Amino acid sequence: MRFPIYRPRRLRRNATLRAMVAETVLTPEDFILPLFVIYGKGVKNPIPSMPGHFQLSPELAASKAKEAWELGIPAVILFGIPEHKDEVGSSALDPDAPVQLAIKEIKEKVPEMVVITDVCLCEYTSHGHCGIIKGGDVDNDSTLEVLREMALSHVRAGCDMVAPSDMMDGRVGAIRSVLDEGGYSHIPIMSYAAKYASAYYGPFREAAGSTPGFGDRKSYQMDPPNSDEALREVLLDIEEGADIVMVKPALPYLDIIRRVKEETGYPVAAYNVSGEYSMIKAAAEKGWIDGEKVMMETLLSIKRAGAGMILTYFAEEAAKILNG
Ligand code: PBG
Ligand code: ZN
Repeated sequence: MRFPIYRPRRLRRNATLRAMVAETVLTPEDFILPLFVIYGKGVKNPIPSMPGHFQLSPELAASKAKEAWELGIPAVILFGIPEHKDEVGSSALDPDAPVQLAIKEIKEKVPEMVVITDVCLCEYTSHGHCGIIKGGDVDNDSTLEVLREMALSHVRAGCDMVAPSDMMDGRVGAIRSVLDEGGYSHIPIMSYAAKYASAYYGPFREAAGSTPGFGDRKSYQMDPPNSDEALREVLLDIEEGADIVMVKPALPYLDIIRRVKEETGYPVAAYNVSGEYSMIKAAAEKGWIDGEKVMMETLLSIKRAGAGMILTYFAEEAAKILNG
């Protein structure tokens, strides 16, 4: 393979040739759309740091889900904004909480759509941490008990898949066993397996009202320098029954996505998180980048790295472009 015998430019001469040799192709089926669900009816609160996204009441979340479905997006993931918060996040278990209601509305309106729920307490606790506080830190094992109940509550409401994002040790196994015992052995778990303690979650925390009231999440989310540890986290979750493993955030951790895909062969999801979305939106608004092109290149990079599923706030916008 030496010049002038090999001239790589031969296959780049026009768009048709380039498409024929493209190694990675994005489709709307790759996307999972995150939705923020809030109490009430007819509520549509804009999220300032995430232009184009809103806190939606359950029936509006269902309409949004239907629009996404019609664009070819197969799944949504739901986050809840509760009316009341307390120390232990009790309203996460309320059968009439926004997420539980939205699940029902979506399944009624678009039965074939896959409804995934985020299972974590930080939106529901008064201190904003992802679990029960004991001695100034999140207590692992007592948190597992609440997470089990939360997952069960979502599944009872009719969701198709649960996605624990808390990063407690043993949560996948704990949730798997409660689902199996409850007659839900067919419900898959998408675990946030390698979830890093990242500054890229800022806009999400504004959207979901889940900023920790004290300290940070470094005692439970992963430390950014670590890659071998990500693999251990992923293998642990697989052993405990995870069906899909997620890497989060996506862009600063593309190396982790690739490694997890290569070393496990499991279905890998990547979360193109709020900060990754907001950065592109902000730069595009300023006219510093071409927002659409940067969006498509970014999503492509995540798929090329090895993600078969991409959770992204760009889902609808990108699907529209892909559908022509
Ligand atoms: C809840 C949760 C977070 C995100 C998904 N689930 C925030 C956090 O861990 O602080 C972040 C998603 C995003 O930034 O888009 N544990
Ligand atoms: Zn959380």
